[in-house]
Amino acid sequence: MKGIILAGGAGSRLYPLTLVASKQLQPVYDKPMVYYPLTTLVEGGVREFCLVSTPHDLPRFRQLLGDGSQWGLSIEYREQAKPEGIAQAFRIAASFVGNDPVTLILGDNIFYGGDAFHRAFSDFRTGATIFGCHVNDPERYGVVEFDASGKALSIEEKPARPRSNHAVPGLYLYDNEVVEIARNLKPSARGELEITDVNVEYLRRGTLRVERLTRGFAWLDAGTSSSLHEASAYVQTIEKRQGIKVGCPEEAAFRRGFIGIRELEALVARLPNCEYRAYLESVAEEARRG
Ligand code: G1P
Repeated sequence: MKGIILAGGAGSRLYPLTLVASKQLQPVYDKPMVYYPLTTLVEGGVREFCLVSTPHDLPRFRQLLGDGSQWGLSIEYREQAKPEGIAQAFRIAASFVGNDPVTLILGDNIFYGGDAFHRAFSDFRTGATIFGCHVNDPERYGVVEFDASGKALSIEEKPARPRSNHAVPGLYLYDNEVVEIARNLKPSARGELEITDVNVEYLRRGTLRVERLTRGFAWLDAGTSSSLHEASAYVQTIEKRQGIKVGCPEEAAFRRGFIGIRELEALVARLPNCEYRAYLESVAEEARRG
């Protein structure tokens, strides 16, 4: 399965931070934000990536992630000249997707815990898989309504009167039909190609699965200054207490077998002396001990 990371948008809600670096490059505790969604997809087994961002921000992402080969990945880059909706990414990256299934993750969505994603990636065959997560403020998101048996009945984008508290987080798995669906979409009232309209089309075709994310799973928002700060605090708490890192692509690539122990060690040897390096050294040492 191919992977698209969408890291566009003006990030105006984080002004003035976003004057110098885009939202998805801001630090979330000890790493740039985009490390988290990248790691989520690597953990799901994705190796081929296309990062979509603005012409202004793309050079910075290239500088940060390169061609991905250091982590056993391949990363291509494509421009989203104007922010015309999440589903536009499938038009922009159509030649990258080719005839394969594809997952899209939003560059500002941070996930932690549970095995729902892992199962969704390994079980995926056809149609679409999206998720529903209980939140306090569903009106800010795509909202999914379930019937008594847990089947999805409707999905609405930022409804004034949400039919449930289940928001759709920014991780979507699609078969190759998504390319044609995105090509035929019309812009919504806010002038965007809506990812919700893609999901509604899969629902209409009877091929949409909505997995409910239960307790033990965290979906963090990092779109405002205070939620960015809270996300950092959350990551710090987990990392300090458990001695593991959240959103560490090197470790995820190693655990997935995309790089071997010698490649991990060589990569670590090139890092400056810092806490991140010490962590990766401990991952390699633990693996050597078995
Ligand atoms: C977008 C989607 C929405 C989804 C959300 C997840 O919202 O349109 O359906 O629930 O991402 O982060 P936006 O980022 O445009 O507010």
